Amino acid sequence: MDQIIVRGGGALNGEIPITGAKNACLTLMPLTLLTDQPLTLTNAPRLSDIRTMTTLLQSLGSEVAPLQDGQVLAMSSHALTGVKAEYDIVRKMRASILVLGPLLARYGEAVVSLPGGCAIGARPVDLHLRALEALGAQLELRDGYVWAKAPSGGLKGADFTFPLVSVGATENAVMAAVLAKGTSILRNVAREPEIVDLVHCLRRMGAQIEGEGSSTLTIEGVTALTGATHPVVTDRIELGTYMLAPAICGGEVECLGGRIDLVASFCEKLDEAGVDVIETARGLKVARKNGRIRAVDVVTEPFPGFPTDLQAQMMALMCTAEGTSVLEETIFENRFMHAPELARMGARIEVHGGHATVHGVEKLRGAPVMATDLRASVSLILAGLAAEGETVVSRVYHLDRGYEKVVRKLRGVGAEIERIKEDSQHE
Ligand code: UD1
Repeated sequence: MDQIIVRGGGALNGEIPITGAKNACLTLMPLTLLTDQPLTLTNAPRLSDIRTMTTLLQSLGSEVAPLQDGQVLAMSSHALTGVKAEYDIVRKMRASILVLGPLLARYGEAVVSLPGGCAIGARPVDLHLRALEALGAQLELRDGYVWAKAPSGGLKGADFTFPLVSVGATENAVMAAVLAKGTSILRNVAREPEIVDLVHCLRRMGAQIEGEGSSTLTIEGVTALTGATHPVVTDRIELGTYMLAPAICGGEVECLGGRIDLVASFCEKLDEAGVDVIETARGLKVARKNGRIRAVDVVTEPFPGFPTDLQAQMMALMCTAEGTSVLEETIFENRFMHAPELARMGARIEVHGGHATVHGVEKLRGAPVMATDLRASVSLILAGLAAEGETVVSRVYHLDRGYEKVVRKLRGVGAEIERIKEDSQHE
């Protein structure tokens, strides 16, 4: 398995381009299932998760062609051959569950493997299923699969309140409701920018939806959707991750394509910690204010709160802050697996249930560490950039799921980082 080697200590200066959002793209791709006309996504990231969704859609008979080095995805589902999402693909990526709503809406049936648990907690799909049931779907759980059927007249609009906010369940419900008969009112929905992007793309396809970005969505079902071309929104998690690089290492980095509205609550915490963020014509310029980073407390929450997907990276910053900070994780249990790895680098962290208490130290020291999930792995790289000496991160395949060209982007701002291919380790 490949490893990433980081030699820390230097300040970072320059520009980092931010790509289209992985999580938005994974939600937009299944929209091809809702129409027999072509759907084209521009600004798509080049990531292994996107390739997994491509494989899943192709297994259903969709045509998916990555064009222009992968940044444009041209899709067409005019001749679907199946409605079954097999376990072998779904187990690799939980977001595969997002084909359930569209298949059900357009074809009246779907068979989708249950995604199962994952490293950051149990992550059930009950809310996805309850929302689809409210739209009239008949569901059966059998042999590890969800067997779903629409009633003979198709899905029907409904008034449904989510008992807790779920990004994925909101997405599945929206994708099903756009072709349902009548009006759907979905309450307590997720307000993430990826949901807003989904609604914008659906509107280009002819869907009638109001309320994106608020906690209620009103959807008037239509009988058919058309094709469209849509640019994927900027990846706010990749943006936040690279904003932390100069905060941790010193220097000044401009994140091209960055927007404050995508990361407002995160920017408030950076400001409190002693990091300047300036909006420029091209993005966001980030630099540490004078002196050491100050400890700040963080609570993860659904958007517009502090994103759980930036918690691990923020912890890396807090490791060398002045004082003690408490990070509270309210979205996923068991999402502190990076803490013991950071401790290998000299961090002082105590984890109790959903709280991590971080006592800032003057310096981290490089160490061999292991990536446990996507965001944890990048937090180890950030910590390595700030540490004295060499950090070797193994299991970096987690990174390939969500960070395009991470080594090249960080080298571009002066980081000493390289990827060692599996083969060359044996040389
Ligand atoms: C999405 C993101 C992920 C991010 C998360 C929260 C994608 C592909 N992934 O994941 O990166 O960390 O939002 O911002 O977009 N839950 C249930 N039942 C359900 C669904 C969810 O109990 O049916 C719970 C989850 O276990 C979790 C909480 O709801 O505790 C929020 O999860 P959710 O918003 O659904 O996350 P995902 O859509 O899976």
